[in-house]
Amino acid sequence: MPDMIVPPADKLIAFFRKNLMDWSSQNPRPMPWKGERDPYKIWLSEIILQQTRVEQGLPYYQKFVQQYPSVRHLADAPEDELMKLWEGLGYYSRARNLHASAKYIANERNGIFPNTFEEIRALKGVGNYTASAIASFAFGLPHAVLDGNVYRVLARFLGIDSQTDTPAAQKQFAALAQSLLDPARPAAHNQAMMDFGATWCTPQNPRCADCPLSPQCNAFLTGRVAELPLKSKGLVKKKRQFHYLIFNHQEHVFVRKRSEKDIWRGLWEFPHIENPAQISTLGPGTVAVSAPFRQLLTHQEVTAIFYEIDLPPDTPADFFENPVLAGCIKMARNDLKKNIAFPRVIDCYLQTKVLTLN
Ligand code: ADE
Repeated sequence: MPDMIVPPADKLIAFFRKNLMDWSSQNPRPMPWKGERDPYKIWLSEIILQQTRVEQGLPYYQKFVQQYPSVRHLADAPEDELMKLWEGLGYYSRARNLHASAKYIANERNGIFPNTFEEIRALKGVGNYTASAIASFAFGLPHAVLDGNVYRVLARFLGIDSQTDTPAAQKQFAALAQSLLDPARPAAHNQAMMDFGATWCTPQNPRCADCPLSPQCNAFLTGRVAELPLKSKGLVKKKRQFHYLIFNHQEHVFVRKRSEKDIWRGLWEFPHIENPAQISTLGPGTVAVSAPFRQLLTHQEVTAIFYEIDLPPDTPADFFENPVLAGCIKMARNDLKKNIAFPRVIDCYLQTKVLTLN
């Protein structure tokens, strides 16, 4: 149980708000969704920016706004088109949830975006942070955002040394973030918090020497900036190996769309096997084996090895009945990158295609 946290004094709150706002006007960080009032576009930007840096998310935001200028356009988009546009951003459940919520808003709410915190929070893929961001940016509602950046600013400024990853600590940090929020301008305050945490009060080498909050920053005054916030222990990643088989047959390959209810649902892949010894049982064809490709996900570490198997033109039809090809369709190799989206690890392979023959 973290220690009880004493609420900050009114004077300290006033100091924080004023200096944060002054900092924000002196350090503008232009972004296309700033000042945007259309809740649909704000929602889109906030979903893209979940787990994604601004620089990486920006071109995706622009592509999406252009391709789907309204929630109805997004609702009507074919799933594969949407996934293709999302390709490379990762965390694909975000794209699936966006699509589901767009359909719900278009069909059940007559295209009108919800305008209360609770209704926004109820949308698929929207947590407290995103709901607070949308509620404040689109509707001026007084809900403070709280994410890793805000935890860090709060832990340092107020000198809080409880670990940030317990439910009790999260509740306390949420209450603190709310008490610092300037109710007169929640949107500007939240945006300033995000920008300040991302560019000034950074995990490494924070800019304390020219920080307007440092005169009252507990961590700065007590020499604990590098220590705070207290790190959590981190999680152990599960290791998984995929052996992907790329059957090349007269300019075509075999691919399948993933329907398993996991992080890669809706993406495409090559047939795969658990045990590479199985390959020799697959019959004719020369095999080229790739170097291992790695992808780190939040909860797992994926290693993928690719086997290019060149099938002779006269491969007997019954070869294609092999259960390893179940659910696959034939696609021209040249079309692979055009229409369908792959998990990053497959995409990396297709882009570099560094083959080591053995
Ligand atoms: N991260 C999440 N939302 C953001 C926003 N509106 N501006 C900058 N970074 C963000």
